Amino acid sequence: MTVSVGIEAMGLAVPELYVDMAQLAEARGVPVGKFVEGIGLKQMSVPAVDEDTVTLAVRAARMALAGVDLKDVGLCIVGTETAVDHSKPVTSFVQGLLGLPTHCRIYETKHACYGGTAGLMTALDWIRSGSNRGRKALIIASDIARYGLRSAGEPTQGAGAVAMLVSATPSLVAFDQNVGTYANDVMDFWRPLYSKDAVVDGQYSVTCYLDALRGAYRAHQETGTGVTPSYSDRFAAIAYHVPYPKMAKKAHEALRLVDGDAAPAASFERQVRTGLLLPERVGNIYTGSLYLSLLSVLNGDPRALDGQALGFFSYGSGSCAEFWSGTVTPGAQAKVKALGLGALLEARRQLTIAEYEQIMTAREGLDTRVPGADPVPAFRFAGVENHRRLYTRA
Ligand code: HMG
Repeated sequence: MTVSVGIEAMGLAVPELYVDMAQLAEARGVPVGKFVEGIGLKQMSVPAVDEDTVTLAVRAARMALAGVDLKDVGLCIVGTETAVDHSKPVTSFVQGLLGLPTHCRIYETKHACYGGTAGLMTALDWIRSGSNRGRKALIIASDIARYGLRSAGEPTQGAGAVAMLVSATPSLVAFDQNVGTYANDVMDFWRPLYSKDAVVDGQYSVTCYLDALRGAYRAHQETGTGVTPSYSDRFAAIAYHVPYPKMAKKAHEALRLVDGDAAPAASFERQVRTGLLLPERVGNIYTGSLYLSLLSVLNGDPRALDGQALGFFSYGSGSCAEFWSGTVTPGAQAKVKALGLGALLEARRQLTIAEYEQIMTAREGLDTRVPGADPVPAFRFAGVENHRRLYTRA
């Protein structure tokens, strides 16, 4: 018997601060059109000095776990490429802060932006195999994307986390088992152990992303129903990994060309546009970017998507990529709209460019920050004492 497996609930956390991309372009002496149309970003999330990968993960998870009995969670994986320790996983901090049961298996996965998908795929197989014994998995993709001030990557930063409760009662999206994978050893983007900032060969990374997309998409077709000229027309929407919105546009055109579509840009509005509404106000959140795009589709698509097929493309530099598909569960859109994601973004505060630069500089000393006397809100990073990271609790 085939078990229906997928996402039962989702949660999103973004920092309460952002910069306006037109203002950043002006400050950098770059035409506004380059950042707003060329990159495709309107706003970019900026983490405050009391936010890190742990705090974002916990806040996203609390949204996804509303009304869930924590005893039912038997697996928790955090996918991240901006972990806070070389040994102790982000997931251990998350387990403590959330109060997950001691019989829950926890660990962290790393493979650039693919790390969250690695966790999701493991959770799906765990449930399909029956090893879950009726329990659910909590998969969190959490990151702070940072390239450094005035670098070419600066307009493609961001921060945030997406949490997914994965189960055999997928009330948002049920996934098909057919997954197309593509892996290739490339140096397109990495973060050496001695650096807080990512190193990237920007234009080459775009080529690597597109090669991986074509490879994973073809592999998906080969394991599924085979190549047909209109193969991707079966998807009402396709959620891509979105390092910046223009990349998803390029990706979609490349995918349609694989199908042999003579007008590859024509389906962009129908299949991709709503998946960019949230990413264009948040920026790159690395592991969570694809899942932010999924939230964006479910939150913002004006069509009724009940029972409709969706495509998914995950890319992690280095590289590993996967293309797979799923079906929207009836009622999923109302469930996501009830999360109030628009209001979450509206409630943020816009930084001046000077404030943003101050925060980015202050964050360089975060790992040795001494806890202050001032009260910090719940689930925030308080500082480091005796080599131990401290977080505020509820
Ligand atoms: P760049 O060299 O500064 O920009 O780097 P550009 O010259 O390529 O211009 C960008 C776009 O703006 C171009 O559009 C220009 O034409 C356009 P395109 O030709 O690409 O369609 N443009 C304008 N448009 C309107 N009005 C204007 C104007 N001027 C120019 N006046 C780059 C851009 C994205 C490479 C850089 O920001 C970067 O290195 N970012 C980081 C790397 C990245 O995001 N790579 C994406 C693929 S790899 C990936 O997704 C994995 C990743 O998420 C990491 C992981 O896996 O962990 C990054």
